[in-house]
Amino acid sequence: MQDIRVELSETLKAKPTDASKLGFGNYFTDHMFMMNYDKGQGWHDARIVPYGPLSLDPAAMCLHYGQEVFEGMKAYRAPDGRVLLFRPDRNMARLNLSNERLCIPQIDEDFCVEAIKKLVAIEQDWIPDAPDTSLYIRPFIISVDPHVGVHPAEHLIFMVILSPVGCYYPEGLNPVKIYVERKYVRAVKGGTGFAKTAGNYASSLKAQEVAASQGYTQVLWLDGVERKYIEEVGTMNVFFKIDGKVITPALQGSILGGITRMSCIEMLKSWGVDVEERPLALQEVIDAAADGTLEEAFGTGTAAVISPIGSLKVDEDVITINGGEIGETAQKLYDQLTDLQNGRIEDTFGWTVCVE
Ligand code: COI
Repeated sequence: MQDIRVELSETLKAKPTDASKLGFGNYFTDHMFMMNYDKGQGWHDARIVPYGPLSLDPAAMCLHYGQEVFEGMKAYRAPDGRVLLFRPDRNMARLNLSNERLCIPQIDEDFCVEAIKKLVAIEQDWIPDAPDTSLYIRPFIISVDPHVGVHPAEHLIFMVILSPVGCYYPEGLNPVKIYVERKYVRAVKGGTGFAKTAGNYASSLKAQEVAASQGYTQVLWLDGVERKYIEEVGTMNVFFKIDGKVITPALQGSILGGITRMSCIEMLKSWGVDVEERPLALQEVIDAAADGTLEEAFGTGTAAVISPIGSLKVDEDVITINGGEIGETAQKLYDQLTDLQNGRIEDTFGWTVCVE
């Protein structure tokens, strides 16, 4: 394993003092992790350095063609003072899946987990401890060859930056209003929908803007071919509880394989709940709402954690779910997951990793 050089900042920033004003992704810590890739040399020069701007050639390929991948993870402060990460190995494995799709060289997953632990340990005073706060970890890789020709990069930078955060949605754990998107699509099988790459998010902005202008928090994407099956919500995977069963769209190449999604499925199964991963037609949800069997809907994601869905706008109709209130399953998942992530209960799943 490479060594990680550490250069500490001489001036430390003032940390935000009011946790209720953190929002999401507005503040960044004093240091960041970086390493470079050069063809023939592999990943090298791993270092933790003061946080600051990058100097990039204006022709750097990531700026033109979006050869970029990223991850989202969190660090939590347990009541006994331990600093915990949640399933970091899964994030690094997913980063390599994204790398493969975007022609980005594979990373050493174990080394990157160690690098993240080291950075978080240095920055641990930035971990907020108010309820519903954490230190968001954003690993990402950009291609930096100065070439305006389209080909896989030979020079890249891997970085990790950290941001103390509160809730992703201003609604917090209050149910969000979701707009079912008919005109635009997010991804198709064979595309990059399963990868965590910038372009997926850039192409989602238009629909999100339209939804926001009508008072909706996020869009619900339908499949790009038949426009019939539910895929995911803006920044989350999505679950529906219909007639006692919890159903989530199967991962078939166009949906992001969320770590929170995977953990919720495992947790629900451990409670004996029936969980189905399968194609789910929007019509099935509409029918279930009509016959009274649609019990709950919620999104899952690292940033958003568990976000109950209070209403769905489908064309001219609005379907209200569970009276617009948070459902029992979403509440239980939120409580158990955040208690486990924050070290407030025993981690019987073995998902948390202590930083030091
Ligand atoms: C996450 O949940 O960590 C994400 O990456 C979503 C994000 C685009 C904020």
